[in-house]
Amino acid sequence: MVISTTETDSREILSSTFASRYVRAAIPRFKMPDNSMPKEAAYQVINDELMLDGNPRLNLASFVTTWMEPECDKLVMASINKNYVDMDEYPVTTELQNRCVNMIAHLFNTPVADDKTAVGVGTVGSSEAIMLAGLAFKRKWQQKRKEQGKPYDKPNIVTGANVQVCWEKFARYFEVELKEVKLEEGYYVMNPVKAVELVDENTICVAAILGSTLTGEFEDVKLLHDLLTKKNEETGWDTPIHVDAASGGFIAPFLYPDLEWDFRLPLVKSINVSGHKYGLVYAGVGWVVWRTKDDLPDELVFHINYLGSDQPTFTLNFSKGSSQIIAQYYQFIRLGFEGYKNIMENCMGNARALREGLEKTGRFEILSKDVGVPLVAFSLKDSSAHTVFEISEGLRKFGWIVPAYTMPANAENVAVLRVVVREDFSRSLVERLISHIEEVLKEIESLPSRVSTKTAHVIPMVNETQGDKPLKKSVRETQEEVTRHWKRFVKGRRAGAC
Ligand SMILES: Cc1ncc(COP(=O)(O)O)c(C=O)c1O
Repeated sequence: MVISTTETDSREILSSTFASRYVRAAIPRFKMPDNSMPKEAAYQVINDELMLDGNPRLNLASFVTTWMEPECDKLVMASINKNYVDMDEYPVTTELQNRCVNMIAHLFNTPVADDKTAVGVGTVGSSEAIMLAGLAFKRKWQQKRKEQGKPYDKPNIVTGANVQVCWEKFARYFEVELKEVKLEEGYYVMNPVKAVELVDENTICVAAILGSTLTGEFEDVKLLHDLLTKKNEETGWDTPIHVDAASGGFIAPFLYPDLEWDFRLPLVKSINVSGHKYGLVYAGVGWVVWRTKDDLPDELVFHINYLGSDQPTFTLNFSKGSSQIIAQYYQFIRLGFEGYKNIMENCMGNARALREGLEKTGRFEILSKDVGVPLVAFSLKDSSAHTVFEISEGLRKFGWIVPAYTMPANAENVAVLRVVVREDFSRSLVERLISHIEEVLKEIESLPSRVSTKTAHVIPMVNETQGDKPLKKSVRETQEEVTRHWKRFVKGRRAGAC
């Protein structure tokens, strides 16, 4: 690497191009450079490389907040050097976190009295929150089994196959078997009846999702609760429920206040929510709240005594930034219930407009529901020649990042596109996106199918057979083949579902 810093370089500097004023060779990728460089150069080099990242505002793959008010940005920058864990030094920040926990717990109808502290903690995101909630369930179940003199080495957890990857991580990292209810074509969330059938004496909890990552649909927590209550009565077990409200936790209280999914249901013992999704804070904050103190085993809690008062902590990591907690508190007091409600209504309105625009093309089937998280998941009605993966690719040209993916077991043959409608995805951007999708459709249809004719040959009949051997592929088999082809094609390039 050559850095132009001396007088003798001045002639060269004048005749050099913009970037080579600073650096003429690639920065080493595997070892730290031997020498320092001027701060302006370091800034320029990094800033230039980052220009090749996508634009977060056009990233429709993610639920995570990409815009906050400048006043909130200012608070974030002012606290960027505060380590959250230094509670002695930053007691006000700790107090703001506790206020956030209380506000969230009350939003979720905690049984804790209005003037009492709720039980919960700020985390890096819903993933950490879920690890903590899962650990609490595992420990509670083990304690009970030990007391009963029963084996406690085979815990399991029941979820839908649509769970986000963090549940699989929890299961693997903390050695809990994941018992997944398979999806069905046309039904893309956990079926409560089947979930309760999977529950046995080793089930530490059933996890329901309020706002499926794949389609935004709310699972029927009330039905799950009623069925599980009945099973508990019949068996003498007391299997609890956790609600993964990563996205829906900041939607349902404002848009569907009568929907019973939270602590109003007695078996719901803990709930997680991502502050950085519809909590409207930049990436790096989640929350988990427990129904009561008894639902969080005390041996998992570390007690820190700061300024004379007990501060219980239960997190996986030690140090972390304070900015996100402060930003969350800003959003709560700045917007209030009224402000959140307005924003969520607006997001829903934009999701509806997008949905209608897509329906008008006549080409898409909408998989997301009217009630749920403001997102639109849609598949092509006919994917015999072209697929949603090509549409996703085509939209990249305009700067849009719209993920295409296949559904989990047993609906793998269904491939969808998903657009998450965040606060900063305005109506005019919705209209632009629709017109770009129309353009992409026209463009790909003018091209020959990129799927081999063999693969693309869809036969609209279920298996014709000769003896017991199928003669032709069924629609489903063909779709699966087309999808496999495209998954290979876009592997490593498409955004995953977050
Ligand atoms: C339902 C659900 N649970 C958990 C997560 C993980 O959340 P986080 O990214 O906050 O860790 C997500 C992320 O999208 C999600 O959709």
